[in-house]
Amino acid sequence: MKQKEILLFGATGQIGRNLVRKLSKNNYKITAVTRNIHRAGYILKTQANPGYLNLVELKKFNLDKIDELIKNSSICINLIGILYEKKKDDFRVIHTDLPNFLSQKANKHKLDKFIHLSALGIEEAIDSKYAQSKLEGEKKIINNFENYIIIKPSIVYSVDDNFTTNFMTLLNLLPFMPIYFNGKTKFTPIHVTDLVDIIFKLIEGNNKNLILECVGPEVLTFKEILQKLLFSIDRKRLLIPMPLPIAKISAKILQLFPKPLLTEDQLNLLKYDNCKSGKYKNNFDLGFNTLKKFENEIDKYSYNWRTGGQFSKRNNLGNIK
Ligand SMILES: NC(=O)c1ccc[n+]([C@@H]2O[C@H](COP(=O)([O-])OP(=O)(O)OC[C@H]3O[C@@H](n4cnc5c(N)ncnc54)[C@H](OP(=O)(O)O)[C@@H]3O)[C@@H](O)[C@H]2O)c1
Repeated sequence: MKQKEILLFGATGQIGRNLVRKLSKNNYKITAVTRNIHRAGYILKTQANPGYLNLVELKKFNLDKIDELIKNSSICINLIGILYEKKKDDFRVIHTDLPNFLSQKANKHKLDKFIHLSALGIEEAIDSKYAQSKLEGEKKIINNFENYIIIKPSIVYSVDDNFTTNFMTLLNLLPFMPIYFNGKTKFTPIHVTDLVDIIFKLIEGNNKNLILECVGPEVLTFKEILQKLLFSIDRKRLLIPMPLPIAKISAKILQLFPKPLLTEDQLNLLKYDNCKSGKYKNNFDLGFNTLKKFENEIDKYSYNWRTGGQFSKRNNLGNIK
């Protein structure tokens, strides 16, 4: 059987790194596109067996070069995404224009599949530019190419994420933690290896023309997530609900930083629950059950933030000794 050539955009991100490992272990040949081969390439090289990973550097979206790369592949996967804009219209360029172009080329070169990572819970979020740009991207893809698979995950976490690890650091440093919308927004966190297993099954299987919501096994509120993180790093902190006007002012200030902890757009998005909608199929409907529970998984790496580090131990009550 001819080995499938996979073209991967956004391979150096959290999901990409794990997917490269999974694919190369299973003998897929991957071409990974990155903006900076020196900054990002070293992370990726260790994820794949020799001969299975080809790194291509594209500083800007060079459309002719992308066309050529797509022509030589059988499956194209787009994992490029951003959480905040550095320049005006970045959301539109990254989340709408790029998937539009990639899916047009996937159609032109008759690829087996175009797999695109969108996001869960964006349909209702009409006041979020992030959400609306992702949604527009989905529509373009559906319009351009019938062999699409759009994956919509909830928050993806792991030892190398920007979510649990950042919060563990903040919870460690700050005497209290502000929570927005009373911490009541619901999430369905999915472990990155569970998500990558699903993507892998979708690559191997016959599913096409599919929008799939991907969720973990539990629904947790934002407050419950922070409480589980606090328990895991053995810290006690006040979780203080922040009134919306003050939250808005703090987001306005925080978004001025180069890597903002919170932007106004993210604050808007935080209002909306991040759970399966019932509008689309989800991973459980396809028998792709996710079993990894949040508190068990974070406990495998939270020792980095605990007093005593790797030598810290729990007593019979589950508390750190
Ligand atoms: N992680 C989550 O919790 C989560 C939840 C829902 C949806 N998603 C979606 O899943 C996809 C992958 O997520 P991830 O967390 O793995 O992503 P990530 O780590 O934030 O980023 C993925 C890659 O996108 C590329 N990239 C970032 N900004 C770019 C830009 N301005 N121009 C070109 N390339 C750029 C980067 O690659 P190079 O630096 O190598 O060029 C980066 O490694 C994204 O579309 C994201 O929106 C993620």
